[in-house]
Amino acid sequence: MSKIRIAVLCSGGGTNLQAILNAEEAGLIPHGEVTLVVSDHAEAYALKRAARYGIATAVCDRKEYPEARERERAIARVMKENGIELIVFAGFLSILSADFVKEYPRRILNIHPSLIPSFCGKGFYGLRVHEAVLARGVKVTGATVHYVTEVCDGGPILAQKAVEVRQDDTPEILQKRVMREAEWVILPEAVECVCKRLAEEK
Ligand code: GAR
Repeated sequence: MSKIRIAVLCSGGGTNLQAILNAEEAGLIPHGEVTLVVSDHAEAYALKRAARYGIATAVCDRKEYPEARERERAIARVMKENGIELIVFAGFLSILSADFVKEYPRRILNIHPSLIPSFCGKGFYGLRVHEAVLARGVKVTGATVHYVTEVCDGGPILAQKAVEVRQDDTPEILQKRVMREAEWVILPEAVECVCKRLAEEK
């Protein structure tokens, strides 16, 4: 059975990409394979991680494509050229249009660093999420993997994991705990789960 071809889209460090690659190496994603990494930032460290594994990369950034629509068309093109069957947003900060999303029904996943529907939607990304969590004083946070639809952070939820908030947490410390205890665990699991479904549907 051929493996599902996965593209991971990243804007920054790519630790979630790394978690997927580690799981793949450990044989935990038998139904899928990361074959492409795309970034909207040429300097994203995620691209270096991909190169280390010999994975094809593409940059669709503001410099080359100043218009958002143009940039999105470039991303769509690179997906088609690489025969991508599943797209994973792993710290990807561009929001793609409903037209793009409709091309991949139940084939785009996103990892979000909170327990949706708390601390999500427009403006909630990266450290900002953890700053808001600490400002509100909640005692439990976590991470969510969901399907991407035209509603920002509003698609069906696939997996969630709770993480304790501690009294002396800083946004940075909390971010690291959420990544280690939740994101890096549930994202590779969800990727395999969806790849298995897609492989069975082939
Ligand atoms: C992760 O915490 C991810 O959940 C978050 O950005 C970080 C990227 O880190 N995504 C969002 O906030 C999306 N709204 P990484 O590049 O090291 O994986």
